[in-house]
Amino acid sequence: MIVRALRTGMVAAALAVTMTAGATASAADLAGSSGVGDPYFPDSGNGGYNATHYDVALRFTPKDHRIAATVTMTARATQALRSFNLDFRGPEVVSVTVDGRRAEFARQDDELVITPASVLVEGAEFKAVVSYAGRPKARKNGTLGTYGWVRSRDGAVVLAEPDGAANWMPVNDHPSDKATYDFAITVPKRLKALANGEPLAPVAHGNLTTYHWRQSAPMASYLASVAIGKFEITYGRVGKITVITAVDPKFKKSLDDVHRRTVKALRWGRKAFGPYPFRTSGAVVDDPKLDYALETQDRPVYGGFVPNDDFIVHELAHQWFGNSVTVREWKDIWLNEGFATYAEWMWREHVSKKDSAAKTFNSYYRQPGTSPIFASPPGSPGREQMFGFPVYVRGAMTLHVLRKRVGDKKFSRILKTWAAEQAGGHGTTEQFTALAERISGKELDKLFDVWLYRKGKPKRGSW
Ligand code: ARG
Ligand code: ZN
Repeated sequence: MIVRALRTGMVAAALAVTMTAGATASAADLAGSSGVGDPYFPDSGNGGYNATHYDVALRFTPKDHRIAATVTMTARATQALRSFNLDFRGPEVVSVTVDGRRAEFARQDDELVITPASVLVEGAEFKAVVSYAGRPKARKNGTLGTYGWVRSRDGAVVLAEPDGAANWMPVNDHPSDKATYDFAITVPKRLKALANGEPLAPVAHGNLTTYHWRQSAPMASYLASVAIGKFEITYGRVGKITVITAVDPKFKKSLDDVHRRTVKALRWGRKAFGPYPFRTSGAVVDDPKLDYALETQDRPVYGGFVPNDDFIVHELAHQWFGNSVTVREWKDIWLNEGFATYAEWMWREHVSKKDSAAKTFNSYYRQPGTSPIFASPPGSPGREQMFGFPVYVRGAMTLHVLRKRVGDKKFSRILKTWAAEQAGGHGTTEQFTALAERISGKELDKLFDVWLYRKGKPKRGSW
C-alpha cells in the first residue's frame, strides 16, 4: 500500500496513516541521512541502518587493472527507509538489488543513494547487493598521503584509514558501524590475494583462483583490506592464533625476520594487554612506497618498507586499541594512536629492562612549548591534525602521566580492563577516563583535562 502511494507521489497522505499525530511526513523523512554526524567527516557513514555483514566478491584483472565486484551488505533498518545511502567513490555501478528486487540508484558526490522497490520498515533486516566494475582509484590528500585502493607493481593493496574504504567498496564508511566480512577475491592463478581474518581453502577454476578470507569479528570499514599480487608467505602459530606473514617478492629476504619479530611482539602483547582479540595475526609487506603502515585488522599492512620493532609493536597494539576497541568518533583518535605509541615505549622498556618509557617521556617533555608535539590538544585535534604529532606523542605522554599517577599495577589493569570490557565494540575518551578513575580510585579530571584538552605544553605541577 505505502509503496504504491509513494510511487504516485502521495507520500504525505500515505504516511499520515502510520505517523503519530502532529508529525508531518515527507519522503525526505524516510531518507537515511548521508552521514552519521561525525564533525570531522560529515558525509562518512550513513543514517537509518546498521550494517552487520559485508560479503565482498571481487575479481581483479591485472592487465588493465580493472575489477568486477559484488558487495552484499546485510543491515538492519533503524528507521523506516524509503531510501538509504552507501558511501561509494568506486567505479561504475552496474546494478543494485535490495532483498532480491531491483532497486533504483543514483550517484551523488561520494554517496550511492539507493531506493528499494518498497519501503523498508524500522527494525527490518535487509540485504543490499551492489555490482560494479571498472578501475578503483586511490584517495590522495596532503596530510594523509595516498590511501584507499593503492596500485602495486603486480596488483593492489588497500589501506583505507580514515575514509578510503568507499574508494573500493560501497560501505557504511564510519567506525561507529562495525560489521563482519567475507571476502572472495578472484585473481589469475599466478597471483595471490590476502584479506582480513582467516583464510578458507582457495578454489581454482581454469586460469583463476578465488581466495576466501573471513573476518568473523566486528571490523571498522577503514580496517578492511585486500592485498593482491605475488607474495611469499610464512605461516606460524602462537597458541590458537594463526600467524600469516606475506611479503612482496621484493622483500623476500626479510620474510622470516618480519614473521619472527611479529610473533615475538604478539607474545609480549598478550601479556601486556590481555588476550589477543582476533583469531589470526601476521603482517603484509607490499611494494607501494607509502612510508606508513596501517593496522588493518588481524594483519597490518606496511607500505613499501620492512618494519622495525617500533612499527610492528605499534600496529600490533592497534589490534587491541583501535581495532577491537574502536573509536565512535574520529576526534577520539588518540585512543588509537596515543595507545599504540605508548605500546612502543612499553616494548622498549620490556626489551631494555630499563625505565625507558620515562626516558622517552622526558626527552619529549624537554622540548619547548613551540614543538609540534604540543601544537594541538590530542583529545580534540581537529580533522587536519588527527594524525599529527600531538595525537601520537602527547597522547602517549598522557598515558605515561596516568601511569605515574596510578602506579604500574593499576595502569596495567586499566589497559587490560579497557581492552576486555570494550572488546569487539567501541570506546570513548569519557569512558576511558571514567574507567581509569574507577580502577585507580583517584580523581583524574585535571590530569586528563590538562593533557588532552588544554592548549600548549602542560606545566609541571598543573596536573
Ligand atoms: N593508523 C596509522 C598508524 O598506525 C596511520 C594511518 C594514517 N592514514 C593515512 N592515510 N596516512 O600510524
Ligand atoms: Zn597508529
